[in-house]
Amino acid sequence: MKNKFNKSNQSSNPNLRIPGPVPIPEEILEIVGGQMINHRGPKYAKMLDRMTENLKSVFFTKNDAYFITASGTGAMESAIANTIEKNDNVLSIIIGVFGDRFAEIAESYGANVTRLEFDLGTAADLEKVKSSIKSIKNLRAVIFTHNESSTGVTNKLKDICEIIHNESDALILVDAVSSAGGIPIYVDKWGIDVVATASQKSWAAPPGISMLTVSKKAWKRSKKISTPKYYFDFQQYEDYLQMGQPPFTPALSVMYALDFSLKKIISEGMDEVFKRHSDIADYTRKKTIEFKLEILPNLDVASNTVTAIKLPENIDGVKFLSEVKNKFNVILGGGQKTLTGKIFRIGHMGWVDKKNIYEALNASNEIIKKMSL
Ligand SMILES: Cc1ncc(COP(=O)(O)O)c(C=O)c1O
Repeated sequence: MKNKFNKSNQSSNPNLRIPGPVPIPEEILEIVGGQMINHRGPKYAKMLDRMTENLKSVFFTKNDAYFITASGTGAMESAIANTIEKNDNVLSIIIGVFGDRFAEIAESYGANVTRLEFDLGTAADLEKVKSSIKSIKNLRAVIFTHNESSTGVTNKLKDICEIIHNESDALILVDAVSSAGGIPIYVDKWGIDVVATASQKSWAAPPGISMLTVSKKAWKRSKKISTPKYYFDFQQYEDYLQMGQPPFTPALSVMYALDFSLKKIISEGMDEVFKRHSDIADYTRKKTIEFKLEILPNLDVASNTVTAIKLPENIDGVKFLSEVKNKFNVILGGGQKTLTGKIFRIGHMGWVDKKNIYEALNASNEIIKKMSL
């Protein structure tokens, strides 16, 4: 009965190409349907231990790692709540909607945020990052998005970290929501203090679990500050981890899926995982160009998990998205904020094959042609 439902459901499923939540493979969907267990029992403890170790391996780190039942924004807020105090000087590097969100979170905690903004579709300029860092006294933290899903741009994470280390003693807090598990992040080698990500992206699990790594330096800071927090307090997650438990009832079904995904990613090997994402991204970019569509960013900073494509000026972006859905059963990501109606986005993170991408691009091309008549 269950299989029958799954199959008929699958055949009518649209080609979901938004940059997360991503479609989930059938075998993971079945795992999500697993029976509940006692989250304070031995089975959960074993799973949590395994997942924590696997998460550390994905990030090439010996830092602590935690799972928090929340969306990616929850992980970003945790990063701030545990390391930033009112009036702390924070540099926020912004290349799109999610960088802006990170700045807003820091501001809502009373930080004194300097916003270093770049044109949409570009990555952070390293010289400007360097001079901004130099110009801020007592810089407490630099916060930024690794992979800006709203513009399809990947910041040069390694280079930015290197500059921060050379020029300051600031903490490095990274929103890796749409990059982790798809694009390389070497937490220890690059000296990243907090990395935040979420289950619905390259991990191919449902939304609901966020993940973080926390360095010793971030811990030291968190012990010094008195920023009010409760649910997002790292100390709670650490204390309970020692007992093999979560502090609060976790999204168990998502944890099951994530456990499976993490095991799969580890057994595939991180280099292979990164190659899988860069191959499908190359294919997406190549086909986009073949269809004579224009990619928003320069290719040297174009993301390996999401491609942002310009819509011709005469096209009504809202109508375009609904036509692609209605005529081809493909769901694309639209532009956000000031890019609304100007671009569309194709997600290619997680388990995606060329057929899905071709179908999405072909559908986009056909509708653009029709609407241009
Ligand atoms: C780069 C980036 N940061 C943060 C978020 C926010 O994550 P969530 O919607 O899970 O809170 C997203 C979601 O798309 C994202 O792509």
